[in-house]
Amino acid sequence: MTTGKFERILITGALGQIGTELTAELRRRYGADNVVASDVRTVEGHPVINGGPWTSLDVTDAGAVSDLIGGMNIDAVFHMAAILSATGEKDPQLCWKVNIDGTLNVLEAARKHDLARVIIPSSIAVFGPETPRENTPQETVLKPRTMYGITKVSGELLCDYYVYKYDLDVRGLRYPGIISSETPPGGGTTDYAVEIYYEAIREGRYTCFVREDTMLPMMYMPDCIKATLDLAEADFDSLVHHSDFNVGSLSVTAGDIAESIRKHIPGFRVEYRPDFRQAIADTWPRSVDDSAARKEWGWKPDWDLDAMTADMLQKLGEKLRGS
Ligand code: NAD
Ligand code: SER
Repeated sequence: MTTGKFERILITGALGQIGTELTAELRRRYGADNVVASDVRTVEGHPVINGGPWTSLDVTDAGAVSDLIGGMNIDAVFHMAAILSATGEKDPQLCWKVNIDGTLNVLEAARKHDLARVIIPSSIAVFGPETPRENTPQETVLKPRTMYGITKVSGELLCDYYVYKYDLDVRGLRYPGIISSETPPGGGTTDYAVEIYYEAIREGRYTCFVREDTMLPMMYMPDCIKATLDLAEADFDSLVHHSDFNVGSLSVTAGDIAESIRKHIPGFRVEYRPDFRQAIADTWPRSVDDSAARKEWGWKPDWDLDAMTADMLQKLGEKLRGS
């Protein structure tokens, strides 16, 4: 197993919320020509498509995944293509197909072409109603009630299987809800934590689809990119876990985010009208124990709620005024 950096990287799902910013950072670190971005859809004029090598790729097509990885001499994959929790509850079969078949196709191609490293994210959605919700342990009950959560638990087990059975270097972390200003989120339960910033600036009010006291683990995008790359570049020998690291940062309620925004926009109003996503949020942790990530690869977040809010409002303000 290698411990160093990569020669030629493939990103799947590169037009998504995390893929967009991960592609930019990987191209900055490794050189634009060495980072191939892909997604099942295209978006005209997108910076990911214009900023370096780009190809269309459906991860459910096993032959296409293998041909691309072999044909472009890829040695590391960041597999970001997925269907998230809320969209997954609307189309559970599609969620299974993309998240399970897609992950298996990436792992199989990685095994066949002897890749140096594969990064496959998991999620706080692996937990369920029987899991302790405060300071949720690394090792605990994994009985999610959503199809998305079921695919993420299965994905973690599948990744570890490839580590132990085939000696493939596969790594993953259980992202909390990710908050960012660049690309809107893609159909998750934690989308309210991003929408609230957009609507605070656009309308000065927001109708939130979870209750005010709903607390979930969240993370600002710069910390998400840092966590992903710190784990991806860590020495394999220092890792005890592989595909399932808890990573904590913020544990905040929807009301806490609104209060933080009011420090900048005093008249900001929020109405709370929970929908089907409340039931999903109620089965996820309020906070996570990330001591394994801290110990094994030095995880430490940089951003707190108020610093994130100030940065989000500044960046989104510039972006929305510009458009
Ligand atoms: P996203 O929904 O924003 O982006 C996913 C991308 O995958 C989209 O651009 C979509 O077009 C693409 N995609 C869908 N089906 C595909 C297919 N068949 N082939 C190729 N591409 C396909 O998701 P994201 O938030 O960027 O999430 C990236 C990863 O991080 C996922 O594994 C997700 O489960 C995980 N994650 C995200 C969050 C979060 O809050 N954003 C939290 C926990 C875990
Ligand atoms: N943010 C993601 C979702 O809500 C968590 O995996 O689906």
